[in-house]
Amino acid sequence: MTSGLRPGPLLVLLLVLPGSEEDCPSVCLCLSDTVSCSSSGLTKLPLSLPSSSVTLDLSHNHLSWLFPGSFNRMPRLENLRLAHNQFSSLGHGVFRNASGLRHLDLSSNKLQVVEQHFFQGLWRLEELLLFNNKITQVEGGTLGGLSSLKKAYFSLNQITDFPFFSIRDHSHPFLTMLDLSSNRMSRLPWEDVKALPGLVQRGLYLHNNSLICDCAMYSVFWHWDLRDFDSLREFTDEHTCSVYGNPRSSIRFLRHSGFFRNCTVEKAVSLPVTVLLSHVVVFEGEKVRLDCQTSLSSAELSFTWSSPNKGRVTQTGINDTQTGINDTLTSLFPDGTLEIRETTVNDSGLYVCTAADIKQALNATREVNVTVVLPAPESFNTGYTTLIGCTVTTVSVMIYLYMTPCRCGCCKQPRPQDIPIATYDPSALTSIFSTSMRDNNKMQTNKHVAFMEPTRSEEGTEWEPEGGW
Ligand SMILES: *[C@@H]1O[C@H](CO)[C@@H](O)[C@H](O)[C@H]1NC(C)=O
Ligand SMILES: *[C@@H]1O[C@H](CO)[C@@H](O)[C@H](O)[C@H]1NC(C)=O
Ligand SMILES: *[C@@H]1O[C@H](CO)[C@@H](O)[C@H](O)[C@H]1NC(C)=O
Ligand SMILES: *[C@@H]1O[C@H](CO)[C@@H](O)[C@H](O)[C@H]1NC(C)=O
Ligand SMILES: *[C@@H]1O[C@H](CO)[C@@H](O)[C@H](O)[C@H]1NC(C)=O
Ligand SMILES: *[C@@H]1O[C@H](CO)[C@@H](O)[C@H](O)[C@H]1NC(C)=O
Ligand SMILES: *[C@@H]1O[C@H](CO)[C@@H](O)[C@H](O)[C@H]1NC(C)=O
Repeated sequence: MTSGLRPGPLLVLLLVLPGSEEDCPSVCLCLSDTVSCSSSGLTKLPLSLPSSSVTLDLSHNHLSWLFPGSFNRMPRLENLRLAHNQFSSLGHGVFRNASGLRHLDLSSNKLQVVEQHFFQGLWRLEELLLFNNKITQVEGGTLGGLSSLKKAYFSLNQITDFPFFSIRDHSHPFLTMLDLSSNRMSRLPWEDVKALPGLVQRGLYLHNNSLICDCAMYSVFWHWDLRDFDSLREFTDEHTCSVYGNPRSSIRFLRHSGFFRNCTVEKAVSLPVTVLLSHVVVFEGEKVRLDCQTSLSSAELSFTWSSPNKGRVTQTGINDTQTGINDTLTSLFPDGTLEIRETTVNDSGLYVCTAADIKQALNATREVNVTVVLPAPESFNTGYTTLIGCTVTTVSVMIYLYMTPCRCGCCKQPRPQDIPIATYDPSALTSIFSTSMRDNNKMQTNKHVAFMEPTRSEEGTEWEPEGGW
């Protein structure tokens, strides 16, 4: 986090004081095309600001209001820093004729509702910082015209709803970072989230919200986990959800997935084949029924199961129970359901059902991971959680703690440099850390996305939401 804009206070004084620009306000420092009026106790925008400025730093002041067209006479303005002020809202037209803005920092203010007129006309805006405000609501059209947006930071607010629906491939082709962590979202419109462009999903941060555990939620994170998204790897422990909305029973669901064992998640393989995957845990001796529900809905399907213990189980009859195989312990029903009446530990493993629609030459498969456990004296849940817990590697803890900002990105061929995060005042970042963190230990766990550069971006995902998973 080095910044070319901070050559050190002394140097700035030496360079600037002797022959400062004609209209540099006395409380500001003007250097080349940069004007810094930070920490100057300002309650109002200085009257005349150098019209050729590209960067204007007004952070750490007491500004609470800006008039329409405040930056009218700064046609070259690209970077505007308003962090650590007292804004609770922005009036209409504040950024009128400031359409050259590329970086706008409004973090650490008191904004409550992000209204849809706030950023109107800022079609060149690439980076929008709104973290650490008091935002409860982001209006639907807010991000509408921001077609150049690359990164948007909304973390550390009180947002309950976010207009995911307004972000689509054609509307935001460059968006690779959307930080919504540490907010108050409990139920997300998962269908809208799944419809987000692949790059946005990869750069979406949702940890430390108030998510309620349910299968729709789990299924989305399961897919992201499968794709090894940075957001999940870097914040594994911060991904929590509460059972039945009870905040006291919160689960680190990327580590302990036991609660979701009855959930069905769909694994998109190369279309048209779709795999539904789920986990079933039973006690030895119990009966288990595995359905073969797939994306195929034709009435004339034939089913084949491959099982770890009994090999292939087939049946071709349709609507005819008599042709179903029926050994004493295993039955295959006409609807494809496989029933194992007395499970043994040896029945554990992956069961794969293939449903074939011969007429349309379509196959679809369903996978069920069956775990047969011996009845234990302890409670069922504990036993299961331990089982799951053991399968989770502890390595990711280490990765999380000692992760360096640049990993795989280095090996990839160089791409045009993303706008460095350091373009905003590093002192603002330090002060967030110092106000919200009391000790070094906490600093590790309170690591905040906004302070990290994502290392990967330009990669699409193979996950096609289309095809209904
Ligand atoms: C905004 O810019 C346009 C042309 O770029 C100009 O005609 C108009 O007067 C400007 N508006 C204000 C309020 O300065
Ligand atoms: C989680 O969010 C709360 C505010 O919602 C914040 O106070 C806390 O520091 C965050 N914790 C982490 C680990 O980010
Ligand atoms: C999962 O399903 C089993 C049997 O259908 C049920 O007893 C159990 O309570 C379910 N678990 C959860 C977490 O819903
Ligand atoms: C298989 O046989 C058992 C009894 O042996 C019977 O209860 C069950 O309904 C049969 N299943 C099918 C699919 O015929
Ligand atoms: C499970 O399989 C092992 C080896 O394949 C065998 O020795 C054992 O008897 C089996 N157990 C049951 C309950 O079928
Ligand atoms: C569907 O599965 C059957 C056997 O299970 C196989 O013979 C056939 O080639 C498969 N068809 C497609 C389109 O994958
Ligand atoms: C099935 O579940 C067990 C434990 O729950 C796990 O170790 C195994 O990797 C899973 N298998 C598959 C194919 O998901």
